[in-house]
Amino acid sequence: MAAAEFVLLVTAATFTFLLVTTRAQAQSVGASCQQRDMDALLAFKQGINSDPNGILASWRSDGHGHEEDCCRWRGVRCSNRTGHVVELRLGNTDLYDGYALVGEISDSLLSLEHLEYLDLSMNSLEGSSGRIPDLVPPHLGNLSKLQYLDISGTQRLFERLPRCSPCKLQELHLQLNNLTGVLPNSMGHLSSLVILDLSGNNITGHLPESIGNFTSLMSLDLSNNNFTGDVPYEIGVLTDLSSLNLGYNSFDGVITEKHFGFLSNLQSLYLSDTSLKIEISSEWQPPFRLQYADFGNSKLGPSFPVWLRWMVGVYYLDISGTGINDRIPHWFSSTFSNCSFLDLGRNQIFGDLPRDMEMMSVERLYLNSNNLTGRVPPLPQNLTLLDISVNSLSGPLPLNLGSSKLIELTLFSNRISGHIPRYICKCNELAILDLANNLFEGKFPSCNEMTMLTTLELSNNSLSGEIPTFLQHSTNLQFLDLAWNKLSGGLPTWVGNLVGLQFLRLRHNMFTGNIPLSITNLGCLQYLDIAENGMSGSLPSHMVNFTTMTGKSSTTGYHIPPLFCGDYSVPGSYQSVSLSTFMKGQELNYRSSSDILYIKMMSMDLSLNNLSGEIPEEIVTLDALLNLNLSGNRLRGNIPYQIGAMESLESLDLSRNELSGEIPASLSNLASLSALDLSYNNLTGRIPSGSQLVSLYSLNPYIYTGNFGLCGPPLVHNCTNNETSMQSNYLRRSDEGVEFFYLGLGCGFIMGIWLVFCTLLFTKQWRILINFILQYL
Ligand SMILES: *[C@@H]1O[C@H](CO)[C@@H](O)[C@H](O)[C@H]1NC(C)=O
Ligand SMILES: *[C@@H]1O[C@H](CO)[C@@H](O)[C@H](O)[C@H]1NC(C)=O
Ligand SMILES: *[C@@H]1O[C@H](CO)[C@@H](O)[C@H](O)[C@H]1NC(C)=O
Ligand SMILES: *[C@@H]1O[C@H](CO)[C@@H](O)[C@H](O)[C@H]1NC(C)=O
Ligand SMILES: *[C@@H]1O[C@H](CO)[C@@H](O)[C@H](O)[C@H]1NC(C)=O
Ligand SMILES: *[C@@H]1O[C@H](CO)[C@@H](O)[C@H](O)[C@H]1NC(C)=O
Ligand SMILES: *[C@@H]1O[C@H](CO)[C@@H](O)[C@H](O)[C@H]1NC(C)=O
Ligand SMILES: *[C@@H]1O[C@H](CO)[C@@H](O)[C@H](O)[C@H]1NC(C)=O
Ligand SMILES: *[C@@H]1O[C@H](CO)[C@@H](O)[C@H](O)[C@H]1NC(C)=O
Ligand SMILES: *[C@@H]1O[C@H](CO)[C@@H](O)[C@H](O)[C@H]1NC(C)=O
Ligand SMILES: *[C@@H]1O[C@H](CO)[C@@H](O)[C@H](O)[C@H]1NC(C)=O
Ligand SMILES: *[C@@H]1O[C@H](CO)[C@@H](O)[C@H](O)[C@H]1NC(C)=O
Repeated sequence: MAAAEFVLLVTAATFTFLLVTTRAQAQSVGASCQQRDMDALLAFKQGINSDPNGILASWRSDGHGHEEDCCRWRGVRCSNRTGHVVELRLGNTDLYDGYALVGEISDSLLSLEHLEYLDLSMNSLEGSSGRIPDLVPPHLGNLSKLQYLDISGTQRLFERLPRCSPCKLQELHLQLNNLTGVLPNSMGHLSSLVILDLSGNNITGHLPESIGNFTSLMSLDLSNNNFTGDVPYEIGVLTDLSSLNLGYNSFDGVITEKHFGFLSNLQSLYLSDTSLKIEISSEWQPPFRLQYADFGNSKLGPSFPVWLRWMVGVYYLDISGTGINDRIPHWFSSTFSNCSFLDLGRNQIFGDLPRDMEMMSVERLYLNSNNLTGRVPPLPQNLTLLDISVNSLSGPLPLNLGSSKLIELTLFSNRISGHIPRYICKCNELAILDLANNLFEGKFPSCNEMTMLTTLELSNNSLSGEIPTFLQHSTNLQFLDLAWNKLSGGLPTWVGNLVGLQFLRLRHNMFTGNIPLSITNLGCLQYLDIAENGMSGSLPSHMVNFTTMTGKSSTTGYHIPPLFCGDYSVPGSYQSVSLSTFMKGQELNYRSSSDILYIKMMSMDLSLNNLSGEIPEEIVTLDALLNLNLSGNRLRGNIPYQIGAMESLESLDLSRNELSGEIPASLSNLASLSALDLSYNNLTGRIPSGSQLVSLYSLNPYIYTGNFGLCGPPLVHNCTNNETSMQSNYLRRSDEGVEFFYLGLGCGFIMGIWLVFCTLLFTKQWRILINFILQYL
């Protein structure tokens, strides 16, 4: 490859990956600057079109009292002895403001021959040509004194490589530039490099063998590119290398001990998320002792890598998703005794957990999604996070868990049985407790309080007793799931104290009594499921107080709760479960743009209880709800007249109640509706028209079953004159009126009535007007 082109572009979004050190602006002292240097700097300034922060404001030589000595200009530093410019520090450290300098780099910089330090990072200097003027590295020959070059994130191009002579460049920071192309073998000329950072670009092709020329290299970061092929063995001769990061690339060869042959100073090794297969002899004794090691999602297995036993003192070790199908070795607890972060998740590790973990220093331990069996042993004493979800662990938890510092305890989807140990009450920093899908039984221990708790996920066990009363002090609670247990008693009034609650699922227990009025205090609530219990009494009034379910701040159905509610992360147990099982007939996308899962499902399910009384008309204010299920109760009265205002609804089930009266014509306004069930009520009159309802009926012809008073298409039962409703009459006769009526719905019921009244008045539909007056006024 004789030529290579690097395309440097960066978006502000990638700034989050950036590690920029804040550097003090250099000040000059001593000898004043050389005319030639000043001209070069002024020419550079000429190329800058935009400088919103006034970085170059001091760069003036106009004989009107402005600084004549360029050595005193901001960002410029000269040699005390010769007056030559030796440093130029124009890196943008104020990343939240976007680019500082916009424009292009003038060729004139190449005449600053004494430059040792050049930092133009995080500016936007690609200019109209989109190319760097032969600045790096081909023409570094001109800047033969340069030791430090940082043009990371400057949106630059450079090409024609390279014919430069060896130079003094020690640090080359080109991260986050969207560089494309391949690295030429001739880059070996930059043999003085100590730090090379090309991370976060789009470099393709092989890593050239001339990497072995960088004998002074201490830090090499090629992560987040698109390198392919083998890693050259030459990397193994870089004896000074202490940090090597090849992660997040498409490397796909085999790494053997030969690659690490002489890397006796290696401390950090990142090989995660590549297709590399790491095949190292079990006999091999590495020349290094790593402190940070990340192999996540590359291939290490199937055997547990024996050479890791030499990594005594490792502080961070990630071997998750590496295809290990083996037992945990007996040396695990002693070798990794000083490790703080250990991730062995997503392998096929089988057998028991070590019994001697108590003395380990580990604080965050991931063993999730393996095939571990046996009991949970006493835990390391400083453990703050444990995730052993999705294994086959059984038996009860140890009475003494071993660590009271737990912040997150995630044990879902095992076969752990017995009582939840009282020890859990000692963990007063516990924020996330996820014990779902196990065989726990008995009452939750009666702790004094757990004020840090944000997530309590106990669903699908056999727990009994009442809702633990200590929860009334857990005002940080956002997620409470007690579904599918044998809990009983009432829903306490203090549930209204949990004002941060966003997700409340009590489904399939034996709860009785009324839904407390205080529940409408829960302004953050977006998911309420009390289905399949023995709740009685009426539906809560003041539903408009469920402010998150009212789409006040939303433009889309998937709206964002009020800011103070916070965006809670969904417990792990939900990440493997299809959330659509919670809702009828719909598949929703719960994955947000980041990797964290958020539930954005606005749902109210009170089905299969003993609720009576009428459905309050106020329920139609919950216009962010995607799912409303009130089926299988004893609700009477009419379907709320303005049901069509709940415009986000995708699923509506009012079946198996004692609802009477006509189906409101506004129902046909629910354009998002994909599942509807009104069967087994006492509804009468003509079925509203509308293509939406027609297609819903063709999907499910049982929508209206069991309502003997319904008539008209799509049913075969014709409406006789006396069954023809006032409502359907005027709706069909006055299209204009319909339109105005629904416009009015958004502004409130009274306004809507007023609009219909006026419309009828002006269109002189007297008969309907009289009917209307009789009904509403
Ligand atoms: C990276 O460069 C390619 C090719 O020039 C361009 O299509 C792409 O949009 C750039 N990506 C970013 C993030 O700037
Ligand atoms: C220049 O002189 C100042 C003191 O006058 C000193 O602090 C600084 O380190 C000197 N710089 C160089 C590059 O020698
Ligand atoms: C770079 O150096 C060459 C000679 O070594 C010279 O001809 C050329 O003008 C220099 N470039 C700049 C921009 O100063
Ligand atoms: C390695 O660097 C030396 C100078 O240190 C240079 O002469 C040689 O050409 C370089 N090799 C490669 C392959 O670039
Ligand atoms: C990387 O470059 C390739 C073309 O070489 C392009 O298809 C791809 O979109 C680029 N990726 C990014 C993240 O810019
Ligand atoms: C990496 O390069 C290959 C072609 O060499 C391309 O198909 C792939 O999309 C690239 N991946 C990324 C993440 O840019
Ligand atoms: C646990 O933490 C304490 C306090 O930080 C420390 O003194 C102790 O050595 C740690 N225990 C272990 C086993 O690392
Ligand atoms: C887990 O282990 C059991 C036997 O203990 C075996 O039957 C099963 O296939 C294993 N599952 C996986 C995914 O390895
Ligand atoms: C509804 O909210 C208002 C204020 O937001 C509050 O004053 C009122 O008590 C709440 N009503 C109920 C029943 O929660
Ligand atoms: C159905 O409604 C009619 C009046 O519309 C009423 O007479 C009848 O009792 C109701 N039947 C049931 C089962 O509620
Ligand atoms: C319903 O009315 C249509 C005409 O409007 C008629 O053809 C049909 O026979 C009637 N069906 C019944 C069951 O009375
Ligand atoms: C509707 O008309 C039918 C006969 O067509 C009659 O039997 C029935 O009583 C009438 N119903 C009402 C509520 O007037």
